[in-house]
Amino acid sequence: MWQANIFTSFPDAFPGSLGVSLIGKALKRNEWCLNIVDLKKFPAHNDRIDSYPYGGGVGMLLSPLTFEMAFNSLNSSSENERIFSENEQKFKRTQKFKRIYFSPRGRQLNQKDLADISQSAGLTVLCGRYEGVDQRILDYYKFEEVSIGDFVLLGGEVAAMAIIEGCVRLLPGIVGDQQSVQNDSFQENLLEHDQYTKPSVFKNIAVPEILLSGNHQKIRSFQNDLSKMITMKKRPDLWAKYVQDNMKLI
Ligand code: ADE
Repeated sequence: MWQANIFTSFPDAFPGSLGVSLIGKALKRNEWCLNIVDLKKFPAHNDRIDSYPYGGGVGMLLSPLTFEMAFNSLNSSSENERIFSENEQKFKRTQKFKRIYFSPRGRQLNQKDLADISQSAGLTVLCGRYEGVDQRILDYYKFEEVSIGDFVLLGGEVAAMAIIEGCVRLLPGIVGDQQSVQNDSFQENLLEHDQYTKPSVFKNIAVPEILLSGNHQKIRSFQNDLSKMITMKKRPDLWAKYVQDNMKLI
């Protein structure tokens, strides 16, 4: 069972959006497991989990001692964890998952990263708050710093939900129609084509005629061309990658 371990000082943020819809149902059916470790349960200095930065500066940093205790708790059965899975036996007390720390300083993750993570046994996430964390936590425990965009959030919780949702939807059996996962935007560096439903004319705008033709071969080819045009226009960076990967085919 794929598992996400999350270190956070705001455990009540979870499961949040991970508890609803297809992903929430899959969580209840034990098709994946969410393990929340509350950093506040591991105070290091004067009952605090954070401290002032050496050298001055605004805000407080997560103490490496707090993180060490929280991390070690992964290996022992502890009431500090809230495991969102009814089947404790399937829960993995492993520390070997890929580790990511959310920060605007990090590399932006892409669909290929999520596919790789979803094919592994699980993911360990550290959510920062306030000014951040002591750098030695990231260096010693080998966390990769990753961002979800060039903007600043208050903390990593929302970013964690986004990445975990992206990984879990790729697990086999989570999305009923596997075709829709295969048609994802970013699959092969192409964005998804436009889509339409009833009515065939809305505010005087008609659905492209070919979609009503019933000729599936022509429809696929139309949609494929549309995907290419949209990618070229909206994401020239992705289009350049597509052209490079398909040089021989074009
Ligand atoms: N934490 C704060 N800002 C962030 C961002 N842009 N991406 C990921 N984590 C963050």
